[in-house]
Amino acid sequence: MSPIAFGSLERLRAGFPALERGAYLSICDKAILHNQVRAAVETFLDRLASGTCSRVEHEVLVNASRARFAALVSATPGEVAISRNVSDGINAVIWALDWQEGDNAVISLDLEHPNNVYPWLRLRKRGVELRNIPSVDGRLDYEAMTGALDGRTRMLSCASVSFAPGYRADLERLGRAARARDVLFLVDGVQSAGILRHDFDAERVDAFATSTSKGLLGLYGYGFLYLAERWIDRLEPAYLSRPAIALDNDDASATGSYDYQLQPDARRFEVGSYNVAGAYAADAALALLDLAGAERVETHALAVAATLREELAAAGLAEVSTATGPTEASHLVTAGPLDAGGHGFSETPWVEALSAQLTEAQVVHTVRRGQLRFATHFYNSDADTRLVLDVLRSWRGAA
Ligand SMILES: Cc1ncc(COP(=O)(O)O)c(C=O)c1O
Repeated sequence: MSPIAFGSLERLRAGFPALERGAYLSICDKAILHNQVRAAVETFLDRLASGTCSRVEHEVLVNASRARFAALVSATPGEVAISRNVSDGINAVIWALDWQEGDNAVISLDLEHPNNVYPWLRLRKRGVELRNIPSVDGRLDYEAMTGALDGRTRMLSCASVSFAPGYRADLERLGRAARARDVLFLVDGVQSAGILRHDFDAERVDAFATSTSKGLLGLYGYGFLYLAERWIDRLEPAYLSRPAIALDNDDASATGSYDYQLQPDARRFEVGSYNVAGAYAADAALALLDLAGAERVETHALAVAATLREELAAAGLAEVSTATGPTEASHLVTAGPLDAGGHGFSETPWVEALSAQLTEAQVVHTVRRGQLRFATHFYNSDADTRLVLDVLRSWRGAA
């Protein structure tokens, strides 16, 4: 594939057709496609259409995307399995542990996306106690979470950034407490992956599940599951097929010894054929993110979000998500009462009315848990904030 020969954020921005329509402040919902990512997928589709695909080439792309993701999060490729999405990764980890009756897991269910809730609820059927720690003002209660860990705790879980109200979790604080008790710390990372920086060693994250369908700027149905090397041999995957087995040949249709060995690394969690279109997209998108530079992406996305947050609060919008600590602010900005409404609707009249005006003005955003929700990436700028404020002013003027 030809290298992407440009570097500045401005030039990268020009490759997103969606941005010609207005402001895209909805990466927390789904990615927009960059022309280079689309071209990569089209290359695959052309080969599929012409019957010229090759399995070897597919594996090259899968492994390239794996290596790029590993580099992004300071991991080794052997610690990254290809998965389908967050749910796939979370369920794979949960079902791989040898839970014993009376073990427990700690989580704050009311802050999690449903896809990081049901896998845990199901564990109760296996005699596992779920220690559900209520959130406080839309935030994790760190004291209570770490205080709930004991000698029978096997896993601790949270989202790196909640889907609403959008605060960033202090992973290191939880990770340190988990590590001290040999508890597996499993993170739903889809809101931060590709936008906020991660260093799983420093954060003491043991497992991290993400899809590429948001900040990683790829497709649905392709994701990454990070598993720290120290855990790999302690986990027995629930599903098995050819990619998970260590064989000394490259023959994809040969079964080796019936006395099989699992892959020595995270590939033991891979099941069946890959979503190859997703691999082409992820490889191209990760190349773009690499060009943009992880530090620049994070700094930029956080700065634009901070300005939007400040301006909305200054304009008198109620309950704008304001960080209380240095690590709490994310690239998500929410406004309005939490849980007065749900997915795509609000019981707060001004949220509904302003959301309708924003949509009319081509400001792509969402309503989640009843709140107005925006999120930034490297392609956003203060011009997007100005557009939101213009809509707010004209809506107020007309009201
Ligand atoms: C925090 C969080 N977790 C998980 C998901 C989705 O999970 P999956 O990738 O399994 O569809 C979303 C959003 O769609 C999310 O915001």
